[in-house]
Amino acid sequence: MSEEPVLPRIRPEIAALPAYRQGRQASADAFKLSSNENPFDPLPGVLEAIQAASGINRYPDATAARLRERLAARHGVSPDDVHVGAGSVSLLAQLLLATSGPGDEVVYAWRSFEAYPSLVAVAGATSVQVPLTAESRHDLPAMAAAITERTRLVIVCSPNNPTGPTVTHDDFAAFVDAVPADVLIVLDEAYAEFVTDPTSVEGDRVRAIIARPNIVVLRTFSKAYGLAGLRVGYAIGHTRVLDAARSTAIPLSVTAAAEEAALASLAVESELLERVGVIAERRDRLVARLREAGWSVPDAQGNFVWLPAGERTLDIAAAFEDAGLVVRPFAGDGVRISIGEEESLDRIVEVAAAHR
Ligand SMILES: Cc1ncc(COP(=O)(O)O)c(C=O)c1O
Repeated sequence: MSEEPVLPRIRPEIAALPAYRQGRQASADAFKLSSNENPFDPLPGVLEAIQAASGINRYPDATAARLRERLAARHGVSPDDVHVGAGSVSLLAQLLLATSGPGDEVVYAWRSFEAYPSLVAVAGATSVQVPLTAESRHDLPAMAAAITERTRLVIVCSPNNPTGPTVTHDDFAAFVDAVPADVLIVLDEAYAEFVTDPTSVEGDRVRAIIARPNIVVLRTFSKAYGLAGLRVGYAIGHTRVLDAARSTAIPLSVTAAAEEAALASLAVESELLERVGVIAERRDRLVARLREAGWSVPDAQGNFVWLPAGERTLDIAAAFEDAGLVVRPFAGDGVRISIGEEESLDRIVEVAAAHR
């Protein structure tokens, strides 16, 4: 009988994390609606920009200076108040490493983006999860009440992945007033471009009106811009806070191709807005049809909708899959469906209506 080999010691909180397994890839004739990706081809000029990017035998510009300058001009800040990373999730990881270690607490709503618990655990800190309201919204007063002297960082996800609603500007402003100045507030706006509710919080407005050094806004090129596969996102915040994040970053992880693709995408804003408009309109139509079919779908402001399927979640996800729709189930809670191709809508409604 062979003996178990002795393995290197792993930090217990890391060993306890579920091992990363990527979701099943969709078969050729299925619609992949499980990762909130963009169904459109890259924006005009993007493929050419990637091809023209400097040779891959060279390291990229470590600070993505050209992209930072462009983003700074766009958002009316200094380039040092912008930090570019390989996806906004990597920027959140850096901010957590910079602020929160063993014994520290990180407060966020739950359910929210599934990466939050593991990123907090990797930093060595403790998650404090505050349940969403009955309308699947952040409960900001409860989140403020959950802050203790151990809290180092609070995440506000608007629109909330996977449930869909935004936080309003006024509620966010009141929340900021209730958070101590030495606690970092991260406003995760991965889906900001899809928001159509004008009362929603929005990073530029927050900076103009609330302007506090303890707020960092995260944005990404993965969703509206359709560059998920290239991995590029950015943070806007106080230079010194972002300097701390930069200190924890894995150097040189934003490739030249990603930087060029982001720059090219920013140059075709009108095409971007047109596509975002198509997705938002498709989303609103889908929400209306699902509600007509009897589902109580929460307000959807991202590029996805939420079916609160509770205990039936896995069965319903399997029914979607049988119909050639790869969706994202969260066992015991609900099913998230990304807004993809127009042709997927009838099938989604059909399956959802049959399982009401
Ligand atoms: C709320 C939220 N934040 C961040 C991300 C990560 O995006 P990125 O591709 O920029 O790392 C996602 C992706 O699904 C998300 O849903």
